[in-house]
Amino acid sequence: MTSGELRKRFLEFFEKRGHKIVPSSSLLPEDDSSVLLTTAGMQQFKLYYTGAKDPVKDFGARRTVSIQKSLRTSDIDEVGDESHLTFFEMLGNFGFGDYFKEDAIKWSWEFITKELGISPERCHVSVFKGDPSTNSGQVVPEDTESIAIWKSLGLGDDKIKKCGREDNFWGPTGDEGPCGPTSEIYVDGVEIWNLVFNQYYCRADKNLEPLKQNGIDTGMGLERLAMISQDAPTIFETDLFEPLIQSIPHKDIENEARAVRIVVDHIRGSVFLIADGILPSNIGAGYILRRLLRRAIRYGKVLDFDKNFLISLAEKVIKMYKEFYPEISIKREDILTVIQKEEEKFYKTLEKGLKELEKTLAAKKEKIISGEDAFHLYESYGFPTELTRELAEERGFNIDESGWETSFKKHREISRAGAEKKFGGHGIATGDRRQATSFKEIDKITRLHTATHLLHQAIHDVLGNEAEVQQRGSDITPERLRFDFAFPRKLTPEELKKIENIVNKKIKLDLPVFSAKMSKEGAIRMGARAFLKDKYPNEVNVYSIGDPDPSKAYSKELCGGPHVARTGEIGEFKIIKEESSSAGIRRIRAVVE
Ligand code: SER
Repeated sequence: MTSGELRKRFLEFFEKRGHKIVPSSSLLPEDDSSVLLTTAGMQQFKLYYTGAKDPVKDFGARRTVSIQKSLRTSDIDEVGDESHLTFFEMLGNFGFGDYFKEDAIKWSWEFITKELGISPERCHVSVFKGDPSTNSGQVVPEDTESIAIWKSLGLGDDKIKKCGREDNFWGPTGDEGPCGPTSEIYVDGVEIWNLVFNQYYCRADKNLEPLKQNGIDTGMGLERLAMISQDAPTIFETDLFEPLIQSIPHKDIENEARAVRIVVDHIRGSVFLIADGILPSNIGAGYILRRLLRRAIRYGKVLDFDKNFLISLAEKVIKMYKEFYPEISIKREDILTVIQKEEEKFYKTLEKGLKELEKTLAAKKEKIISGEDAFHLYESYGFPTELTRELAEERGFNIDESGWETSFKKHREISRAGAEKKFGGHGIATGDRRQATSFKEIDKITRLHTATHLLHQAIHDVLGNEAEVQQRGSDITPERLRFDFAFPRKLTPEELKKIENIVNKKIKLDLPVFSAKMSKEGAIRMGARAFLKDKYPNEVNVYSIGDPDPSKAYSKELCGGPHVARTGEIGEFKIIKEESSSAGIRRIRAVVE
Protein backbone atom coordinates (compact mmCIF):
# COMPACT_ATOMS: atom_id res chain seq x y z
CA MET A 1 0.00 0.00 0.00
CA THR A 2 1.42 3.42 -0.88
CA SER A 3 2.14 5.86 1.93
CA GLY A 4 -0.53 8.17 0.52
CA GLU A 5 -3.05 5.34 0.80
CA LEU A 6 -1.90 4.55 4.36
CA ARG A 7 -2.42 8.16 5.45
CA LYS A 8 -5.88 8.18 3.90
CA ARG A 9 -6.95 4.85 5.36
CA PHE A 10 -5.79 5.85 8.82
CA LEU A 11 -7.65 9.15 8.86
CA GLU A 12 -10.82 7.60 7.41
CA PHE A 13 -10.75 4.62 9.76
CA PHE A 14 -10.84 6.86 12.81
CA GLU A 15 -13.14 9.44 11.25
CA LYS A 16 -15.67 6.64 10.83
CA ARG A 17 -15.30 5.99 14.53
CA GLY A 18 -16.23 9.53 15.53
CA HIS A 19 -12.82 11.25 15.39
CA LYS A 20 -12.46 14.76 14.02
CA ILE A 21 -9.57 15.06 11.53
CA VAL A 22 -7.20 17.78 12.77
CA PRO A 23 -4.31 19.03 10.61
CA SER A 24 -0.71 18.64 11.77
CA SER A 25 0.45 21.47 14.00
CA SER A 26 3.66 23.36 13.26
CA LEU A 27 7.04 21.80 14.05
CA LEU A 28 7.59 24.87 16.20
CA PRO A 29 5.22 24.34 19.13
CA GLU A 30 2.91 27.22 19.97
CA ASP A 31 2.23 28.10 23.61
CA ASP A 32 4.57 25.45 24.97
CA SER A 33 7.98 26.66 26.07
CA SER A 34 8.79 23.32 27.68
CA VAL A 35 9.77 21.76 24.35
CA LEU A 36 11.86 23.02 21.50
CA LEU A 37 10.18 21.20 18.65
CA THR A 38 7.11 19.11 18.08
CA THR A 39 8.13 15.55 18.83
CA ALA A 40 4.72 13.86 19.06
CA GLY A 41 1.15 14.14 17.88
CA MET A 42 -0.27 14.70 21.36
CA GLN A 43 1.59 17.95 21.91
CA GLN A 44 -0.99 20.19 20.28
CA PHE A 45 -3.64 18.53 22.45
CA LYS A 46 -1.95 18.81 25.85
CA LEU A 47 -4.53 21.21 27.29
CA TYR A 48 -7.45 19.01 26.28
CA TYR A 49 -6.11 16.19 28.44
CA THR A 50 -5.98 18.33 31.55
CA GLY A 51 -9.44 19.77 30.95
CA ALA A 52 -8.07 23.29 30.56
CA LYS A 53 -9.55 23.42 27.03
CA ASP A 54 -12.81 22.00 25.77
CA PRO A 55 -12.45 19.67 22.76
CA VAL A 56 -16.17 19.78 21.98
CA LYS A 57 -16.03 23.54 21.61
CA ASP A 58 -12.95 23.41 19.39
CA PHE A 59 -13.49 20.18 17.42
CA GLY A 60 -17.12 19.30 17.99
CA ALA A 61 -15.94 15.96 19.42
CA ARG A 62 -14.02 14.42 22.32
CA ARG A 63 -11.79 12.49 19.90
CA THR A 64 -9.42 13.55 17.15
CA VAL A 65 -7.12 11.99 14.59
CA SER A 66 -4.07 13.53 12.96
CA ILE A 67 -0.88 12.99 10.99
CA GLN A 68 1.71 15.05 12.79
CA LYS A 69 5.03 16.35 11.47
CA SER A 70 7.52 15.42 14.19
CA LEU A 71 11.24 15.89 14.65
CA ARG A 72 13.50 14.28 17.24
CA THR A 73 17.26 14.74 17.43
CA SER A 74 18.01 12.46 20.35
CA ASP A 75 19.18 9.70 17.98
CA ILE A 76 20.80 11.91 15.35
CA ASP A 77 24.08 9.98 15.54
CA GLU A 78 22.22 6.78 14.72
CA VAL A 79 20.70 8.17 11.52
CA GLY A 80 22.26 6.32 8.60
CA ASP A 81 21.45 2.86 9.91
CA GLU A 82 18.31 1.02 8.81
CA SER A 83 15.72 2.52 11.09
CA HIS A 84 16.62 5.87 12.65
CA LEU A 85 15.27 9.20 11.46
CA THR A 86 15.06 12.77 12.73
CA PHE A 87 11.93 13.94 10.87
CA PHE A 88 8.99 11.56 10.68
CA GLU A 89 5.23 11.57 10.26
CA MET A 90 3.23 10.33 13.20
CA LEU A 91 -0.23 8.85 12.73
CA GLY A 92 -2.29 9.23 15.89
CA ASN A 93 -5.75 8.98 17.38
CA PHE A 94 -6.62 10.87 20.54
CA GLY A 95 -9.40 10.83 23.14
CA PHE A 96 -10.01 13.40 25.86
CA GLY A 97 -12.17 12.14 28.71
CA ASP A 98 -13.84 9.84 26.22
CA TYR A 99 -12.99 6.27 25.24
CA PHE A 100 -10.17 4.45 26.97
CA LYS A 101 -8.10 1.28 26.82
CA GLU A 102 -10.75 -1.10 25.49
CA ASP A 103 -11.66 0.84 22.34
CA ALA A 104 -8.13 2.10 21.76
CA ILE A 105 -6.68 -1.41 21.80
CA LYS A 106 -9.48 -3.01 19.80
CA TRP A 107 -9.37 -0.35 17.07
CA SER A 108 -5.60 -0.50 16.73
CA TRP A 109 -5.78 -4.28 16.36
CA GLU A 110 -8.59 -3.99 13.83
CA PHE A 111 -6.67 -1.40 11.83
CA ILE A 112 -3.50 -3.48 11.67
CA THR A 113 -4.97 -6.94 11.14
CA LYS A 114 -8.22 -6.23 9.23
CA GLU A 115 -7.86 -2.85 7.49
CA LEU A 116 -4.24 -3.46 6.49
CA GLY A 117 -4.53 -7.24 6.51
CA ILE A 118 -1.31 -7.86 8.44
CA SER A 119 -1.34 -11.39 9.83
CA PRO A 120 -1.68 -11.58 13.65
CA GLU A 121 1.08 -14.20 13.49
CA ARG A 122 3.55 -11.42 12.70
CA CYS A 123 2.50 -9.33 15.70
CA HIS A 124 3.20 -9.17 19.40
CA VAL A 125 2.50 -6.49 22.00
CA SER A 126 4.02 -5.06 25.14
CA VAL A 127 2.29 -3.77 28.27
CA PHE A 128 3.33 -1.98 31.46
CA LYS A 129 4.31 -4.35 34.27
CA GLY A 130 4.07 -1.69 37.00
CA ASP A 131 6.73 0.13 38.95
CA PRO A 132 7.07 -0.44 42.68
CA SER A 133 9.71 2.22 43.24
CA THR A 134 9.27 5.58 41.57
CA ASN A 135 11.45 8.55 42.54
CA SER A 136 8.66 9.99 44.58
CA GLY A 137 8.08 6.69 46.34
CA GLN A 138 4.75 6.19 44.58
CA VAL A 139 3.76 2.75 43.38
CA VAL A 140 2.40 2.62 39.84
CA PRO A 141 0.41 -0.60 39.34
CA GLU A 142 0.64 -3.19 36.55
CA ASP A 143 -1.70 -2.49 33.63
CA THR A 144 -3.85 -5.59 34.15
CA GLU A 145 -6.73 -4.04 32.19
CA SER A 146 -4.73 -3.91 28.95
CA ILE A 147 -3.48 -7.45 29.47
CA ALA A 148 -7.08 -8.69 29.79
CA ILE A 149 -8.15 -6.78 26.66
CA TRP A 150 -5.31 -8.22 24.56
CA LYS A 151 -6.20 -11.70 25.81
CA SER A 152 -9.82 -11.18 24.82
CA LEU A 153 -8.53 -10.49 21.29
CA GLY A 154 -6.86 -13.89 21.21
CA LEU A 155 -3.28 -13.04 22.13
CA GLY A 156 -1.68 -15.64 24.37
CA ASP A 157 0.85 -14.98 27.14
CA ASP A 158 3.69 -15.60 24.69
CA LYS A 159 2.49 -12.64 22.61
CA ILE A 160 2.20 -10.20 25.53
CA LYS A 161 5.52 -8.90 26.79
CA LYS A 162 5.53 -7.12 30.15
CA CYS A 163 7.97 -4.22 30.46
CA GLY A 164 8.95 -1.57 32.96
CA ARG A 165 8.89 2.16 33.13
CA GLU A 166 11.71 2.75 30.65
CA ASP A 167 9.80 1.03 27.85
CA ASN A 168 6.11 1.18 28.68
CA PHE A 169 5.39 4.46 30.38
CA TRP A 170 5.12 7.66 28.41
CA GLY A 171 5.51 11.31 29.13
CA PRO A 172 5.36 13.96 30.18
CA THR A 173 6.77 16.11 27.37
CA GLY A 174 8.81 18.80 29.09
CA ASP A 175 8.74 19.31 32.85
CA GLU A 176 5.18 18.37 33.58
CA GLY A 177 2.03 17.15 31.91
CA PRO A 178 -0.16 14.14 31.16
CA CYS A 179 1.47 10.72 31.19
CA GLY A 180 0.60 7.08 31.72
CA PRO A 181 1.23 3.42 30.91
CA THR A 182 1.56 2.35 27.30
CA SER A 183 1.00 -0.68 25.17
CA GLU A 184 3.02 -1.13 22.01
CA ILE A 185 2.31 -3.15 18.90
CA TYR A 186 5.20 -4.86 17.14
CA VAL A 187 5.19 -6.37 13.66
CA ASP A 188 8.05 -8.73 12.74
CA GLY A 189 9.77 -7.52 15.91
CA VAL A 190 9.63 -3.85 14.88
CA GLU A 191 7.74 -1.48 17.16
CA ILE A 192 5.22 0.37 15.05
CA TRP A 193 2.46 1.71 17.26
CA ASN A 194 2.55 3.19 20.73
CA LEU A 195 -0.77 3.41 22.59
CA VAL A 196 -0.53 5.75 25.57
CA PHE A 197 -3.17 5.64 28.28
CA ASN A 198 -2.97 9.01 29.92
CA GLN A 199 -4.31 8.57 33.41
CA TYR A 200 -1.86 10.65 35.46
CA TYR A 201 -0.64 14.20 35.57
CA CYS A 202 3.08 14.38 36.32
CA ARG A 203 3.75 17.50 38.35
CA ALA A 204 7.00 19.45 38.12
CA ASP A 205 8.11 17.81 41.39
CA LYS A 206 7.66 14.43 39.59
CA ASN A 207 4.72 13.33 41.71
CA LEU A 208 1.94 11.67 39.77
CA GLU A 209 -1.67 12.54 40.45
CA PRO A 210 -4.69 11.03 38.69
CA LEU A 211 -5.92 13.08 35.74
CA LYS A 212 -9.47 14.32 36.12
CA GLN A 213 -10.32 12.54 32.89
CA ASN A 214 -8.63 9.62 31.18
CA GLY A 215 -6.99 10.30 27.85
CA ILE A 216 -5.89 8.31 24.81
CA ASP A 217 -2.80 9.26 22.82
CA THR A 218 -1.48 6.95 20.15
CA GLY A 219 1.44 7.37 17.79
CA MET A 220 2.53 5.27 14.83
CA GLY A 221 5.45 6.21 12.58
CA LEU A 222 4.29 6.31 8.96
CA GLU A 223 7.76 5.34 7.73
CA ARG A 224 7.82 2.09 9.69
CA LEU A 225 4.24 1.30 8.78
CA ALA A 226 5.09 1.82 5.11
CA MET A 227 8.08 -0.49 5.50
CA ILE A 228 5.86 -3.28 6.86
CA SER A 229 3.02 -2.67 4.44
CA GLN A 230 5.32 -2.44 1.40
CA ASP A 231 7.45 -5.41 2.49
CA ALA A 232 10.52 -3.21 2.24
CA PRO A 233 13.74 -4.39 3.90
CA THR A 234 14.31 -0.95 5.48
CA ILE A 235 12.40 2.33 5.75
CA PHE A 236 14.65 3.72 3.03
CA GLU A 237 13.25 1.31 0.46
CA THR A 238 9.69 2.60 0.88
CA ASP A 239 8.00 5.08 -1.43
CA LEU A 240 8.72 7.77 1.19
CA PHE A 241 12.46 7.63 0.47
CA GLU A 242 13.18 5.47 -2.54
CA PRO A 243 12.72 8.20 -5.19
CA LEU A 244 15.05 10.51 -3.26
CA ILE A 245 17.68 7.85 -2.75
CA GLN A 246 17.54 6.77 -6.38
CA SER A 247 18.18 10.32 -7.50
CA ILE A 248 21.54 10.44 -5.71
CA PRO A 249 24.36 8.78 -7.60
CA HIS A 250 26.30 6.60 -5.17
CA LYS A 251 28.12 3.32 -4.93
CA ASP A 252 26.54 0.44 -3.10
CA ILE A 253 29.15 0.44 -0.35
CA GLU A 254 28.58 0.97 3.32
CA ASN A 255 29.88 4.48 3.89
CA GLU A 256 28.16 5.84 0.80
CA ALA A 257 24.86 4.15 1.59
CA ARG A 258 25.03 5.65 5.07
CA ALA A 259 25.87 9.11 3.76
CA VAL A 260 22.92 8.96 1.35
CA ARG A 261 20.52 8.09 4.15
CA ILE A 262 21.83 10.91 6.32
CA VAL A 263 21.54 13.44 3.50
CA VAL A 264 18.01 12.34 2.63
CA ASP A 265 16.81 12.34 6.24
CA HIS A 266 18.36 15.70 7.02
CA ILE A 267 17.18 17.48 3.89
CA ARG A 268 13.64 16.23 4.47
CA GLY A 269 13.71 17.58 8.04
CA SER A 270 15.24 20.87 6.91
CA VAL A 271 12.57 21.45 4.25
CA PHE A 272 9.81 21.02 6.82
CA LEU A 273 11.55 23.13 9.47
CA ILE A 274 12.10 26.04 7.09
CA ALA A 275 8.49 25.80 5.90
CA ASP A 276 7.41 26.28 9.51
CA GLY A 277 9.37 29.53 9.70
CA ILE A 278 12.59 28.33 11.34
CA LEU A 279 15.87 29.87 10.17
CA PRO A 280 19.38 28.53 10.77
CA SER A 281 20.96 30.07 13.86
CA ASN A 282 23.13 29.16 16.80
CA ILE A 283 20.37 28.63 19.33
CA GLY A 284 17.20 26.67 19.86
CA ALA A 285 15.27 25.25 16.94
CA GLY A 286 17.42 27.33 14.56
CA TYR A 287 20.45 25.44 15.75
CA ILE A 288 18.82 22.11 15.04
CA LEU A 289 18.10 23.28 11.50
CA ARG A 290 21.69 24.50 11.08
CA ARG A 291 22.99 21.21 12.34
CA LEU A 292 20.81 19.20 9.96
CA LEU A 293 21.77 21.33 6.98
CA ARG A 294 25.47 21.31 7.71
CA ARG A 295 25.51 17.59 8.25
CA ALA A 296 23.66 17.17 4.95
CA ILE A 297 26.28 19.33 3.21
CA ARG A 298 29.17 17.50 4.85
CA TYR A 299 27.86 14.09 3.90
CA GLY A 300 27.04 15.44 0.48
CA LYS A 301 30.73 16.13 0.14
CA VAL A 302 31.49 12.51 0.92
CA LEU A 303 29.29 11.75 -2.08
CA ASP A 304 30.94 14.34 -4.30
CA PHE A 305 27.88 16.55 -4.56
CA ASP A 306 28.25 19.64 -6.59
CA LYS A 307 27.03 22.87 -5.08
CA ASN A 308 23.46 22.79 -6.32
CA PHE A 309 22.71 19.24 -5.44
CA LEU A 310 21.03 19.88 -2.12
CA ILE A 311 18.75 22.43 -3.71
CA SER A 312 17.60 19.97 -6.33
CA LEU A 313 17.07 17.37 -3.63
CA ALA A 314 15.00 19.85 -1.62
CA GLU A 315 12.92 20.47 -4.74
CA LYS A 316 12.27 16.74 -5.00
CA VAL A 317 11.16 16.63 -1.36
CA ILE A 318 8.76 19.48 -2.02
CA LYS A 319 7.35 17.71 -5.04
CA MET A 320 6.86 14.44 -3.20
CA TYR A 321 5.23 15.89 -0.09
CA LYS A 322 3.38 18.99 -1.26
CA GLU A 323 0.11 17.29 -1.86
CA PHE A 324 -0.27 16.33 1.75
CA TYR A 325 1.65 19.29 3.22
CA PRO A 326 0.77 22.31 1.02
CA GLU A 327 2.81 24.64 3.26
CA ILE A 328 6.07 23.38 1.77
CA SER A 329 4.88 24.31 -1.68
CA ILE A 330 3.81 27.78 -0.52
CA LYS A 331 7.19 28.32 1.15
CA ARG A 332 9.17 26.87 -1.75
CA GLU A 333 11.19 30.02 -2.46
CA ASP A 334 12.10 30.55 1.20
CA ILE A 335 13.18 26.94 1.55
CA LEU A 336 15.50 27.05 -1.45
CA THR A 337 17.01 30.44 -0.52
CA VAL A 338 17.71 29.44 3.09
CA ILE A 339 19.41 26.22 2.01
CA GLN A 340 21.51 28.03 -0.56
CA LYS A 341 22.64 30.72 1.91
CA GLU A 342 23.53 28.21 4.61
CA GLU A 343 25.45 26.20 2.06
CA GLU A 344 27.50 29.26 1.07
CA LYS A 345 28.26 30.04 4.70
CA PHE A 346 29.32 26.53 5.44
CA TYR A 347 31.57 26.31 2.38
CA LYS A 348 33.47 29.30 3.71
CA THR A 349 34.06 27.44 6.98
CA LEU A 350 35.09 24.36 5.05
CA GLU A 351 37.61 26.36 3.05
CA LYS A 352 39.23 27.53 6.25
CA GLY A 353 39.38 23.94 7.40
CA LEU A 354 40.95 22.87 4.10
CA LYS A 355 43.70 25.43 4.54
CA GLU A 356 44.29 24.01 7.98
CA LEU A 357 44.53 20.54 6.49
CA GLU A 358 47.01 21.74 3.87
CA LYS A 359 49.14 23.21 6.66
CA THR A 360 48.95 19.99 8.64
CA LEU A 361 50.04 18.02 5.59
CA ALA A 362 52.85 20.41 4.67
CA ALA A 363 54.36 20.15 8.14
CA LYS A 364 54.58 16.35 8.00
CA LYS A 365 57.66 14.40 7.18
CA GLU A 366 55.93 11.09 7.38
CA LYS A 367 52.87 10.47 5.30
CA ILE A 368 50.61 9.97 8.32
CA ILE A 369 48.01 12.30 9.79
CA SER A 370 47.72 11.74 13.51
CA GLY A 371 44.40 10.91 15.12
CA GLU A 372 44.53 14.17 17.10
CA ASP A 373 44.98 16.25 13.92
CA ALA A 374 42.13 14.49 12.15
CA PHE A 375 40.01 14.96 15.22
CA HIS A 376 40.88 18.65 15.37
CA LEU A 377 39.63 19.10 11.81
CA TYR A 378 36.50 17.22 12.67
CA GLU A 379 35.82 19.17 15.83
CA SER A 380 36.85 22.67 14.79
CA TYR A 381 35.81 22.74 11.15
CA GLY A 382 33.16 20.09 11.01
CA PHE A 383 35.20 17.91 8.65
CA PRO A 384 33.78 14.41 8.52
CA THR A 385 36.66 11.94 8.80
CA GLU A 386 35.62 10.43 5.50
CA LEU A 387 36.40 13.78 3.95
CA THR A 388 39.76 14.19 5.68
CA ARG A 389 40.62 10.63 4.68
CA GLU A 390 39.77 11.20 1.05
CA LEU A 391 41.58 14.52 0.78
CA ALA A 392 44.60 13.08 2.54
CA GLU A 393 44.68 10.04 0.30
CA GLU A 394 44.56 12.22 -2.77
CA ARG A 395 47.83 13.68 -1.54
CA GLY A 396 49.33 10.30 -0.69
CA PHE A 397 48.70 10.53 3.08
CA ASN A 398 47.04 8.14 5.48
CA ILE A 399 45.19 8.77 8.73
CA ASP A 400 46.39 6.97 11.82
CA GLU A 401 43.07 5.12 12.14
CA SER A 402 43.56 3.68 15.60
CA GLY A 403 44.81 7.08 16.85
CA TRP A 404 41.66 8.62 15.43
CA GLU A 405 39.52 6.04 17.22
CA THR A 406 41.24 6.82 20.51
CA SER A 407 40.87 10.57 20.07
CA PHE A 408 37.27 10.21 19.10
CA LYS A 409 36.44 8.05 22.09
CA LYS A 410 38.34 10.31 24.44
CA HIS A 411 36.50 13.37 23.25
CA ARG A 412 33.19 11.73 22.69
CA GLU A 413 31.61 13.15 25.81
CA ILE A 414 32.28 16.74 24.89
CA SER A 415 32.02 16.34 21.16
CA ARG A 416 28.67 14.63 21.52
CA ALA A 417 25.94 16.72 20.05
CA GLY A 418 28.67 18.79 18.42
CA ALA A 419 29.81 20.21 21.76
CA GLU A 420 26.96 22.55 21.13
CA LYS A 421 26.16 23.11 24.75
CA LYS A 422 29.21 22.51 26.81
CA PHE A 423 28.88 22.64 30.54
CA GLY A 424 32.45 22.20 31.63
CA GLY A 425 33.55 18.79 30.50
CA HIS A 426 30.11 17.31 30.88
CA GLY A 427 28.07 16.19 27.91
CA ILE A 428 24.69 17.84 27.85
CA ALA A 429 21.97 15.95 26.08
CA THR A 430 20.16 18.06 23.55
CA GLY A 431 17.31 17.60 21.21
CA ASP A 432 13.59 17.04 21.45
CA ARG A 433 12.07 17.18 24.87
CA ARG A 434 15.40 16.81 26.58
CA GLN A 435 16.85 19.93 25.03
CA ALA A 436 17.83 22.59 27.54
CA THR A 437 15.46 25.18 26.25
CA SER A 438 13.57 26.96 28.89
CA PHE A 439 15.33 28.78 31.69
CA LYS A 440 13.84 26.25 34.06
CA GLU A 441 15.73 23.48 32.35
CA ILE A 442 18.98 25.43 32.26
CA ASP A 443 18.57 26.08 35.97
CA LYS A 444 18.02 22.36 36.56
CA ILE A 445 21.09 21.44 34.52
CA THR A 446 23.18 23.96 36.44
CA ARG A 447 22.10 22.44 39.76
CA LEU A 448 22.84 18.95 38.46
CA HIS A 449 26.20 20.17 37.23
CA THR A 450 27.31 21.36 40.66
CA ALA A 451 25.87 18.16 42.14
CA THR A 452 28.13 16.24 39.70
CA HIS A 453 31.20 17.95 41.16
CA LEU A 454 30.10 17.07 44.71
CA LEU A 455 29.38 13.50 43.63
CA HIS A 456 32.79 13.23 41.98
CA GLN A 457 34.53 14.22 45.22
CA ALA A 458 32.24 12.10 47.40
CA ILE A 459 33.07 9.04 45.27
CA HIS A 460 36.72 9.67 45.99
CA ASP A 461 35.94 10.16 49.69
CA VAL A 462 34.25 6.79 49.90
CA LEU A 463 36.13 4.65 47.36
CA GLY A 464 39.41 6.48 46.97
CA ASN A 465 41.29 4.37 49.49
CA GLU A 466 40.47 1.12 47.83
CA ALA A 467 41.44 2.00 44.28
CA GLU A 468 42.27 5.04 42.25
CA VAL A 469 38.86 5.93 40.86
CA GLN A 470 38.91 7.98 37.70
CA GLN A 471 36.23 9.95 35.92
CA ARG A 472 35.42 8.46 32.53
CA GLY A 473 32.41 10.46 31.47
CA SER A 474 29.59 12.70 32.50
CA ASP A 475 26.28 13.51 30.92
CA ILE A 476 23.59 15.85 32.16
CA THR A 477 20.01 16.26 30.99
CA PRO A 478 17.34 18.36 32.69
CA GLU A 479 16.09 15.13 34.25
CA ARG A 480 19.22 13.58 35.68
CA LEU A 481 22.99 13.41 35.84
CA ARG A 482 25.04 10.44 34.78
CA PHE A 483 28.59 9.94 35.93
CA ASP A 484 30.98 7.24 34.74
CA PHE A 485 34.16 6.28 36.51
CA ALA A 486 36.71 3.52 36.45
CA PHE A 487 36.27 1.13 39.36
CA PRO A 488 36.71 -2.64 39.38
CA ARG A 489 33.51 -3.82 41.08
CA LYS A 490 29.87 -3.07 41.86
CA LEU A 491 29.34 -0.60 44.69
CA THR A 492 27.59 -1.89 47.81
CA PRO A 493 24.30 -0.30 48.92
CA GLU A 494 26.16 1.03 51.99
CA GLU A 495 28.77 2.76 49.84
CA LEU A 496 26.08 4.32 47.67
CA LYS A 497 24.20 5.54 50.73
CA LYS A 498 27.44 7.00 52.13
CA ILE A 499 28.15 8.85 48.89
CA GLU A 500 24.59 10.16 48.73
CA ASN A 501 24.74 11.30 52.37
CA ILE A 502 28.03 13.16 51.87
CA VAL A 503 26.62 15.04 48.88
CA ASN A 504 23.47 15.95 50.82
CA LYS A 505 25.55 17.08 53.78
CA LYS A 506 27.56 19.43 51.54
CA ILE A 507 24.30 20.75 50.10
CA LYS A 508 22.85 21.38 53.57
CA LEU A 509 26.01 23.31 54.55
CA ASP A 510 25.12 25.74 51.74
CA LEU A 511 28.78 26.05 50.73
CA PRO A 512 29.77 28.93 48.44
CA VAL A 513 31.04 28.07 44.95
CA PHE A 514 34.05 30.00 43.58
CA SER A 515 35.57 30.17 40.15
CA ALA A 516 39.08 31.38 39.34
CA LYS A 517 41.49 31.36 36.42
CA MET A 518 44.93 29.88 37.05
CA SER A 519 47.67 27.97 35.32
CA LYS A 520 46.89 24.36 34.55
CA GLU A 521 49.98 23.19 36.43
CA GLY A 522 49.10 25.22 39.50
CA ALA A 523 45.58 23.89 39.47
CA ILE A 524 46.65 20.26 39.21
CA ARG A 525 49.23 20.84 41.95
CA MET A 526 46.48 22.10 44.22
CA GLY A 527 44.64 18.86 43.65
CA ALA A 528 42.05 20.08 41.15
CA ARG A 529 40.43 17.21 39.32
CA ALA A 530 40.49 17.25 35.55
CA PHE A 531 38.63 15.02 33.17
CA LEU A 532 40.74 15.28 30.03
CA LYS A 533 43.88 16.80 31.44
CA ASP A 534 45.90 17.09 28.29
CA LYS A 535 43.16 18.82 26.32
CA TYR A 536 43.00 21.89 28.58
CA PRO A 537 44.79 25.09 27.62
CA ASN A 538 47.60 26.40 29.84
CA GLU A 539 45.31 28.82 31.56
CA VAL A 540 42.31 27.05 33.03
CA ASN A 541 39.24 27.82 35.03
CA VAL A 542 38.84 26.09 38.37
CA TYR A 543 35.61 25.73 40.30
CA SER A 544 36.15 25.33 44.05
CA ILE A 545 33.36 24.46 46.45
CA GLY A 546 33.63 25.59 50.08
CA ASP A 547 36.73 27.80 49.85
CA PRO A 548 38.18 30.19 47.24
CA ASP A 549 41.57 28.52 47.69
CA PRO A 550 41.40 25.23 45.77
CA SER A 551 43.86 23.55 48.10
CA LYS A 552 41.44 24.15 50.98
CA ALA A 553 38.19 23.62 49.08
CA TYR A 554 36.11 20.45 49.44
CA SER A 555 35.79 20.02 45.68
CA LYS A 556 37.94 21.54 42.95
CA GLU A 557 37.73 20.83 39.27
CA LEU A 558 38.92 22.26 36.00
CA CYS A 559 35.65 23.31 34.48
CA GLY A 560 33.99 25.91 32.29
CA GLY A 561 30.84 26.09 34.40
CA PRO A 562 28.23 27.31 34.87
CA HIS A 563 27.46 26.42 38.48
CA VAL A 564 25.13 27.51 41.24
CA ALA A 565 26.40 30.23 43.62
CA ARG A 566 25.82 28.15 46.76
CA THR A 567 25.30 24.42 47.15
CA GLY A 568 22.01 24.99 49.01
CA GLU A 569 20.44 25.83 45.65
CA ILE A 570 20.93 22.25 44.46
CA GLY A 571 18.05 20.72 46.46
CA GLU A 572 17.90 17.11 47.60
CA PHE A 573 20.31 14.75 45.88
CA LYS A 574 19.30 11.16 45.15
CA ILE A 575 21.19 8.32 43.53
CA ILE A 576 18.70 6.36 41.45
CA LYS A 577 20.91 3.72 39.89
CA GLU A 578 24.40 2.25 39.91
CA GLU A 579 25.37 -0.10 37.13
CA SER A 580 28.19 -1.20 34.92
CA SER A 581 28.56 0.87 31.75
CA SER A 582 31.34 -1.25 30.25
CA ALA A 583 34.14 -3.46 31.54
CA GLY A 584 35.71 -1.80 34.57
CA ILE A 585 33.54 1.30 34.31
CA ARG A 586 30.74 2.04 36.77
CA ARG A 587 27.88 4.39 36.01
CA ILE A 588 25.84 6.35 38.56
CA ARG A 589 22.58 8.08 37.72
CA ALA A 590 21.26 10.65 40.13
CA VAL A 591 18.59 13.33 40.35
CA VAL A 592 18.06 16.50 42.36
CA GLU A 593 14.64 17.39 43.67
N1 SER B 1 3.00 10.31 22.56
C1 SER B 1 3.35 8.95 22.23
C2 SER B 1 4.64 8.86 21.44
O1 SER B 1 5.17 9.84 21.04
C3 SER B 1 2.23 8.34 21.43
O2 SER B 1 1.75 9.22 20.52
O3 SER B 1 5.12 7.79 21.23
